[in-house]
Amino acid sequence: MARILITSAIPYINGIKHLGNLVGSQLPADLFARYMRGRGNEVLFLCATDEHGTPAELAAAKAGKPVAAYCAEMHAVQAGIAEGFRLSFDHFGRSSSPQNHRLTQHFAGVLDARGLIREGETEQMYSVTDGRFLPDRYIEGTCPNCGFTSARGDQCDNCTKQLDPTDLINPRSVISGSTDLELRKTKHLYLRQSLMRDELRSWIKSKTDWPVLTTSIALKWLDDGEGLQDRGITRDLDWGIPVQKGDQPWPGMEGKVFYVWFDAPIEYIACSQEWVDAGKGTDWERWWRTDKGADDVTYYQFMGKDNVPFHTLSFPVTLLGSGEPWKMVDYLKSFNYLNYDGGQFSTSRGRGVFMDQALSILPSDYWRWWLLSHAPESADSEFTWENFQVSVNKDLADVLGNFVSRVTKFARSKFGETVPEGGAFGAQEEALIVDLTARVREYERLMDAIEVRKAAAELRAIWVAGNEYLQSAAPWSVVKTDPAQAEAIVRFGLNLIRLYAVLSRPFIPDAAETMMTALGSTDWGWPEDVGAALRHLAPGHGFAVPENLFRKITDEERAEWQVRFAGTRD
Ligand code: 2FM
Ligand code: ZN
Repeated sequence: MARILITSAIPYINGIKHLGNLVGSQLPADLFARYMRGRGNEVLFLCATDEHGTPAELAAAKAGKPVAAYCAEMHAVQAGIAEGFRLSFDHFGRSSSPQNHRLTQHFAGVLDARGLIREGETEQMYSVTDGRFLPDRYIEGTCPNCGFTSARGDQCDNCTKQLDPTDLINPRSVISGSTDLELRKTKHLYLRQSLMRDELRSWIKSKTDWPVLTTSIALKWLDDGEGLQDRGITRDLDWGIPVQKGDQPWPGMEGKVFYVWFDAPIEYIACSQEWVDAGKGTDWERWWRTDKGADDVTYYQFMGKDNVPFHTLSFPVTLLGSGEPWKMVDYLKSFNYLNYDGGQFSTSRGRGVFMDQALSILPSDYWRWWLLSHAPESADSEFTWENFQVSVNKDLADVLGNFVSRVTKFARSKFGETVPEGGAFGAQEEALIVDLTARVREYERLMDAIEVRKAAAELRAIWVAGNEYLQSAAPWSVVKTDPAQAEAIVRFGLNLIRLYAVLSRPFIPDAAETMMTALGSTDWGWPEDVGAALRHLAPGHGFAVPENLFRKITDEERAEWQVRFAGTRD
């Protein structure tokens, strides 16, 4: 049994996430966590809300609420929706937790002691109209790198370049729109990332199995040099983690907080402390400290491509630079963007389908299946209602749902609600066992490699193979001439349903549960031996005909949703 640590990029607290956010980190991370558990491994799967920085402050201001209250409220909302999508986090933490305050201040203290933090006086954008400094997202303008006109002060969404507010061309205040901005002096702390360049490069170069998307972004910012400039890790904001060295004050930094991107990834670790403090676990260090057992852990991170620079440059600098034995990521899976019906999903513009809206029209498995089987891995991908309708109706209703319904209904009508005992598996069944064995091994290989789309395609092929078998074995004809043989076919079919439940669970957990319950089994053991798995349910074992697993999406519904979700949400 291996020990697998999985973190999903932690979503900003500023509102409900859209399906593009979901498929870029939390959902594939959940798929992988469920698969790894299914294989019998010990898994710790963590996520949290990212509650600091300008996104939180701006959203709270817009909602007219104090930021702490807003964050508490939105955390509960996001946790509820995560449950709705069956995201199986072992803990869903909060970056504003006391644990993260302590750990972030600890890292700042040790980095400072090791000479990796310097103080600097800088000039920052000050809005005369608003009477305040404008860090990060409080300011927008044109990206100096690609010309995108809505680049934010911290990063360009278009080209992923990390920015400083002073880099922007034609900057404006997000609060008032004012362009009456001037540079004023203020003091901040800087992480001296460039001192770690060689160490970072050899660390990244050693990751030869990482997806090209991940390493190309990492190396681009590393070699470009600009990505490795000293990064300001403090801000003139009220809400956040107060700047301290451990539990000691930091003279000259009073009233300032750490930058959100400094404390957010530290929350991955703090989240495991929250998990222990919530009584769900007993030992966080064996997951995170290589001197306390974490050298046995394999650590996977999931995130959208815009998050890659922070996880391959600044967060590793924090961990490596501390000189302490922290567990570093072993595999970083990143995703391209999912687009929506000819444009971009956008939280700020309310464009696309948001997680709560999705669940209000269809259960989570429909979305999970579509999103994962169309995950934007090698390139950006696009959600269209037509494609969604076709996938759901074909893959889920016609192939899987139909198979389950035909087998169980036929079995009940001819032989009652127990697994029939007649006949024996013959050439056709043995051939399918051989075929499925190869397919299941390939499915495992793809899941191990986190090739999400290809794994979905293999799973679909496994469902299709069952359908084709049923079609050609045709128990409804055989029963007329050789009832015992028809019993063997049905017994095989019922066992196939259990196999499908186990294999499909990471993608469509609710349907898998329904299948397993209908088969009167609780044995989720992975089919290491496919032949044995297909003999698992013995003659005489009771089963029931389940409710229809999946319904079809009608043309009327599709048309209605297309119109309903064409505009922007308020
Ligand atoms: O892009 C985002 O949604 C960020 N909140 C991700 C943070 S991931 C991490 F560093 F914690
Ligand atoms: Zn850009």
